[in-house]
Amino acid sequence: MIPLTVPLIEDDDLAVVAEVLRSGNLVQGRNVAAFEAAVAAQVGVPHAVAVANGTAALHLALLALGVGPGDAVAVPTYSWPATANVVEAVGADCVFVDIEEGSWAMSPARLAEVDVPLAAVLPVHPFGVMADLAALAAAAPGVPVVEDAACALGAGRDGRAAGSVGTMGCFSFHPRKAVTTGEGGMVTTSSAELDVALRRWRNHGIHLTPGGSDFVLPGLNYRLTDMQGALGVTQMAKLERVVGARRAAADVYAELLAGTPLAAPAVIASSEPVHQSYVAVLPEGVDRAALIPAAAERGVQIQIGTVDIPSSSYYRDKYGFGPGRFPVTEAWVGRHLSLPLYPGITREQQETVVSTVVGLL
Ligand SMILES: Cc1ncc(COP(=O)(O)O)c(C=O)c1O
Repeated sequence: MIPLTVPLIEDDDLAVVAEVLRSGNLVQGRNVAAFEAAVAAQVGVPHAVAVANGTAALHLALLALGVGPGDAVAVPTYSWPATANVVEAVGADCVFVDIEEGSWAMSPARLAEVDVPLAAVLPVHPFGVMADLAALAAAAPGVPVVEDAACALGAGRDGRAAGSVGTMGCFSFHPRKAVTTGEGGMVTTSSAELDVALRRWRNHGIHLTPGGSDFVLPGLNYRLTDMQGALGVTQMAKLERVVGARRAAADVYAELLAGTPLAAPAVIASSEPVHQSYVAVLPEGVDRAALIPAAAERGVQIQIGTVDIPSSSYYRDKYGFGPGRFPVTEAWVGRHLSLPLYPGITREQQETVVSTVVGLL
């Protein structure tokens, strides 16, 4: 089977995890602090707060901003449901904004049409390609932007790094991301105040005082283990190599797909993608649900792009969405197909992927 992804775990990753396990210091400690410093340096911000996963990062970002019941948060229609679920989890309401063709990111034009006051905008960098944050900020002036950069560590646009443009940036280190700690997340920010709030929310609301501790918020336990912190440090050292390999493999797909019925993803000018997923576009009328198992039978793992959130039961029922509400999402996302992409995939394997999928169309 040519799998969708293979995390790059090498001997140094194994060694540091074993070392922490042997030390007996397993919970958030100096290795988590070192991982935070590595991510802050990569993103180019003074603060990075490690958390248990990308969903926790988004949840804490909203809590730290004080978003809660009665608030409205703009989220794109097309993402992993975590992007919207955290809004519901803090008791706020989602204002879904359709995506734009090509980038598949939240549409600035649709955001400008939102006619309720927003407590935050939560744009996603789809598949590791940065959204146009300048245009989104212009469409919702003065509203805090929380970047859902779950898939975008190492991505850039117009010379700015993902996670450094918004009020906060939220990353995931799930194994389908460029670098991984198994589960893991990070919030980046330039705000010292938000850094303090995020650290309290992450750890039971604790505030250390000279003589002891106080609990100043109804916080959570979203800490990362120190094994994951150590793994994060060795993984961060591989980021440039991994992203380089992913970009090279994406270029090979673009070449192999030319002239086939399967369209390569659009190239966004001034964008430096990390290709967390390589999402091609199927011709109209293909039964994607049948194509995925048929390719698997022939040894190629392919997958959908991501989720049309408003059409899932919870959101459709809560907000009463009907057909036609989000035309770009409805017209396109059912045609998206993730192809295998990881460092180490060979050109021959990519040729097999393309010939298998195209042969099934
Ligand atoms: C866009 C987006 N946001 C949030 C998440 C949640 O991250 P995690 O799985 O680490 O909780 C994901 C996970 O795939 C994602 O793709």
